[in-house]
Amino acid sequence: MTARYPDELKEAVEEGLHHHFPLADERAAPVVDAMRYSLFAPGKRFRPILTLAGAQAVGGDPAGAMPTACAFEFIHTYSLIHDDLPALDDDELRRGQPTCHIKFSESTAILAGDALLTEAFNLVAAVQTEDSGPAIAMRVLVEMGRAAGLQGMVGGQVVDVATEGPSVDRTTLEFIHHHKTGALIRAAAVCGAILGGGTDKQIAALGRYAVNLGLAFQISDDILDVVGSTDTVGKPVGSDENNRKTTFVSMIGVDNSRQAARAAIDDAMAALDEGDLERGILNELAEFVLARTS
Ligand code: IPE
Ligand code: IPE
Ligand code: MG
Ligand code: MG
Ligand code: MG
Repeated sequence: MTARYPDELKEAVEEGLHHHFPLADERAAPVVDAMRYSLFAPGKRFRPILTLAGAQAVGGDPAGAMPTACAFEFIHTYSLIHDDLPALDDDELRRGQPTCHIKFSESTAILAGDALLTEAFNLVAAVQTEDSGPAIAMRVLVEMGRAAGLQGMVGGQVVDVATEGPSVDRTTLEFIHHHKTGALIRAAAVCGAILGGGTDKQIAALGRYAVNLGLAFQISDDILDVVGSTDTVGKPVGSDENNRKTTFVSMIGVDNSRQAARAAIDDAMAALDEGDLERGILNELAEFVLARTS
């Protein structure tokens, strides 16, 4: 069974990304080309869709959250470019094409990632502030900074890299997954709800939903690294084993990992019950995470 994916929001995100792609002096062209190459490669746009869905779930207008949605995709794409570098996972395929450092060079890939991260904050600080006012935009910037930095994705990647080789316990593995992947997914949803004018109760419920969604998303990524096909996932299957990573699959096997993902999605759905939220797309995204093949 393939779960329905919110393609109408995905198309809106594609347009938004073209619209909000940063302008630069032509002397920066080598890095701009690399940013474009990685950003416009076929990704699922899961995080920006979640931002738009978060706005919609609290009764807001998703279009009003588009600059922030795009900023989340900039940050995510930067994280992929850097994650693939030889010093990290050393992978050569991403989104069905050679990774940024293979296509261009390591220095270009590092700078393209740096620029995407920085431009994400510029986009919110400039455009989202114009659209939503400084108080709301500042709340978004705080969530975004926490999720991308040491308390979020970078913190998770630090532990992921440091624990390569020796096996880690379940608590450490969940720390890695919650931070390297869950934090940005949570912030994407929460910022959508903030921009949509959600109540504190709605925002908190959406946050609990997305924390669990993020855990399930990384468990399914671990599963796809073992049972997926390179053609469909668009990245090298077996990368985790090559890098001697502890993953859900290496720790508890494929079947138990599927159950753990299901349990996290059940927790996500339970969180939605507490929040007085319009659940249509949030349900679809949750089912997608369990059924996904890419
Ligand atoms: C891959 O993310 C990296 C993880 C955090 C698991 P996605 O599976 O969302 O990758 P794209 O954006 O669709 O390429
Ligand atoms: C990456 O986790 C999480 C990031 C912050 C990019 P993985 O290393 O498992 O992601 P993939 O499998 O390369 O996409
Ligand atoms: Mg990695
Ligand atoms: Mg990787
Ligand atoms: Mg992976």
